[in-house]
Amino acid sequence: MDMRAAPDAELVDLQPGRDRIVDDAVAGLSATPKRLPSKYFYDARGSMLFEQITRQPEYYLTGTESALLQRRMPDIAAAIGARVHVVEYGSGSGRKTETLLAGLDDAVAYTPIEISRAALLDSVARLEGRFPRIEMLPVCADFTHPVALPSPRRAPRRTLAFFPGSTLGNFVEDEAVQLLRAMRDTIGEDGLALIGIDLDKDPATIEAAYNDAAGVTAAFTLNLLARLNREIGSDFDLDQFRHRAHYSRERGRIETWLVSRRAQRVRVDGHVFDFAAGEAMQVEYSHKYTDAGFAAIAARAGLAPAAAWNDAADWYGLRLLRRMDAG
Ligand code: AVI
Repeated sequence: MDMRAAPDAELVDLQPGRDRIVDDAVAGLSATPKRLPSKYFYDARGSMLFEQITRQPEYYLTGTESALLQRRMPDIAAAIGARVHVVEYGSGSGRKTETLLAGLDDAVAYTPIEISRAALLDSVARLEGRFPRIEMLPVCADFTHPVALPSPRRAPRRTLAFFPGSTLGNFVEDEAVQLLRAMRDTIGEDGLALIGIDLDKDPATIEAAYNDAAGVTAAFTLNLLARLNREIGSDFDLDQFRHRAHYSRERGRIETWLVSRRAQRVRVDGHVFDFAAGEAMQVEYSHKYTDAGFAAIAARAGLAPAAAWNDAADWYGLRLLRRMDAG
């Protein structure tokens, strides 16, 4: 049980229950190759391990994005305008949010949508102390499903979807389009979306980011199995799987697998799954974008680039999108 105190802000709790996790795990393990959804990485320990990943020297994404956001915040705020309702998808620890909320002109409300209740409560507790004038309207939910937005007390001029961290990269193209389309519906006709994307670059740099020397990413990946064991009673033997992350140039993405160290049998809610020695189970994709590739995905979702900011090395980008049908 989560013993943390709830923040003052009212929490809408739509955290996925056991049945949905079982259904997703059984469907994934029945596929060829076997797979498990990466969205289940983020229980309390997974969120903590991800925070540690962001501090590893090889994992350039977070530091590059934070510095870019900080440096370009005046331009970003000017492009977005005053009095927005910020809706953040998968808010995690919410640290980049501080830069955004502090830099925007008179933000009205903040709605983080986050699957991990622990991470959501932590971030809101910190932000409401720092931004007493911004109404906190957190929603604990899986943002890959439609979410009804809470209404702020003070009327916002527009809604801004904020999706940093290159989390979009964790979705295959059709899912990314679906997600951006849902975002487009959520922000309404005058809305905007600010998206962080990791850009395509030298494969060695990318691969190192997902194979840190301290082994934090490996622990993060394996924690998925620990979480399933605890929450749905599966019996994965964590010592008998190892982390493998490889960059596919052809597909422009890191492909992360858990590889079975030997032939073994795993039970999940009355279902039995056999792994061969060396069998790889797919657990995460992290796509890296070209400008053309990202614009094509946005266009399929009815969104067009309104502004773009990259760091000096063109490793990482922030893209401001507007609806193609906006006046
Ligand atoms: C949250 N997401 C963008 C991270 C990524 O880079 O794909 C998750 C992660 N997986 C391994 N390291 C970090």
